[in-house]
Amino acid sequence: MSAWLSRKVSSLNLQELNEFDGSQEQKQALKELGKEFEITTDKLRSIVKQFTFEMQKGLERHGAKVAMIPSFVTGKPTGMESGTYLAIDLGGTNLRVCKVDLLGNGKVEIQQQKYIVPEAMKVGEMRQLCDFIADSVDMFLTEIDTDSYSETLQLGFTFSFPVNLRTINRGNLMQWTKGYCCTGAIGKDPGLMLQDSFRRKNMKVNVAAIVNDTVGTLMAHAYRDPTTFMGIIFGTGTNAAYFEKMDNITKWEDDITSDEMVVNMEWGAFDEERRVLPMTIYDNRLDRESINPGTHIYEKMISGMYLGEIVRNMTLGLVDQLLLFNGKSSPELNKKWSFETSHMSAIEIDTSSDLADTQYVLETVLGIPSTTLLDREMVKTLCRLVGIRAARLSAAGVAAVMTHCNLLPQDACTAAVDGSVFEFYPHFSHNMMKALKELFGEDVEQKIKFSQSHDGSGLGAAVIAMQVSKGNS
Ligand code: GLC
Repeated sequence: MSAWLSRKVSSLNLQELNEFDGSQEQKQALKELGKEFEITTDKLRSIVKQFTFEMQKGLERHGAKVAMIPSFVTGKPTGMESGTYLAIDLGGTNLRVCKVDLLGNGKVEIQQQKYIVPEAMKVGEMRQLCDFIADSVDMFLTEIDTDSYSETLQLGFTFSFPVNLRTINRGNLMQWTKGYCCTGAIGKDPGLMLQDSFRRKNMKVNVAAIVNDTVGTLMAHAYRDPTTFMGIIFGTGTNAAYFEKMDNITKWEDDITSDEMVVNMEWGAFDEERRVLPMTIYDNRLDRESINPGTHIYEKMISGMYLGEIVRNMTLGLVDQLLLFNGKSSPELNKKWSFETSHMSAIEIDTSSDLADTQYVLETVLGIPSTTLLDREMVKTLCRLVGIRAARLSAAGVAAVMTHCNLLPQDACTAAVDGSVFEFYPHFSHNMMKALKELFGEDVEQKIKFSQSHDGSGLGAAVIAMQVSKGNS
C-alpha cells in the first residue's frame, strides 16, 4: 500500500494525493474531488454564521427552514423520578418497544424488544403503520407479562420526524425524512393516530408525549448528568435539541411559568436555500433521487442513510471516466443505496497492506468482477473525503449552538450523542473535535464533552412521559 494511504489519517491533505501511484488522470480526478469536498476553516466559519442566523429566524417565527420547534419539555429531570412507563421509538431502522422502570437515584431498569419495520410499511398507509406499532406493543406486553397492565400505561412516543407540537402529545407531522413516506400522515397528528390504533385494539395505553429522539437523548442523559445541555443524533438522520431560554423563543405566544424549554432544532433542514453548503454534483444527484428532494440537504451530507450513496455516485463517476475498475461497474453497484455507510466504515478502518477488507466489500458484496490495489486505494480515498466532510459539517452545527448559547465562557458542559455514525464511523468524533478546535482554539476540548448516550428513545421518552403524568413537564 502506498505510504500516503497507510497513514492513520484524521484529515486528508490534498498534497498527499501527489504521492498517489496512479496515472496522471486518476491523480487529477482525485485532486478535483478533494477540492470539491474540502471544508476549509474559513468555510466552516461562514457555515456557522449562517447557522446561527437561521437558528435565530426559527426562534422568531413559525415556518422558518430550521424550524426550532418548542418541545413542551421544560423541567430538567432530577434522577429521583420513579414509576413504570412504556416507550416506543420509530424513526430509525427498527421499531423499539421498551418498559422502563425508573427506580430513583438515577437508576433505571429497561426491558426492550426490537421489531423490524417492513420496507413496504414505511411507504404505505399511516393508519397501517400505527396498527403495526400497536400490535408490536401488544406482543411486547404479552411477552414480558407485565403485571401493571391492568392500569392504563403511560407511553412516551419517540417519533423522530419534524412534528409541529401544539401540546406535549398533540401536533402535526410537517414532512417525512429518512426514507419514510407514508400516505395520510402529513399535516395529521401522529399521537392521535397511534392513540386511535390502541383504542381500536382495546389496549389500555395512553400516548402521554410525542418525543423527538434528540429531546429524548438530552433528557435521558440529563437524568444521570445535570450538566447536559444538548442532545444530538448522528445516525440514520441528524438533528439536535438544547435548552433555550423562554425569552429567546420569541414566536412562543402562550403563558408559561418556566424559564427554559427544550427546542427541537430540526437542523437537518439547515441551508435549504443553498447559501453556504458546498453541494457537489454527487450530492445533487442523491437529493434528486431521494423521497424528499430539495429538503434536509444538510442531513443528506452528514448522516448514515446517505453517506454511502454519495460515495456510490462518486465511484460510478470515476468508472464512467474509465479511471476505476477498468471502466466496469456491476449490477449491484448500479443499484441505488447499495453502497451502505457501514461499507465505508469497513473500508476506512482497513489498514491491511492489500486492503483485503476493501476488496471483500467491492468484489464480494458489491460484485465488481476484479479490483486492483490502486482501485481499492481510490475508493478508500473517496470514503475519507465524504467521511471527513461529514464530521466537519457536523461540527459546524455544534459550533452554532455553542455560539448562540454563548457557552465558551462557561464551565464545561456535556452534549449527549446517539447514532451509528457517531458510534461506529472511524475517526468521526476526532475529526469533529479537530474542526471545533480550528474554530474555537485548542482548549475547546475541555469545554465540551461528547458523551455517547444509548437510551434516549427508551429512558428519555419514559422520563418525559413521567413528567407529563405527574404534571411537571
Ligand atoms: C430527521 C428527523 C428528525 C430526527 C433526525 C434524527 O432529521 O427529521 O426529527 O431527529 O432525523 O433521527
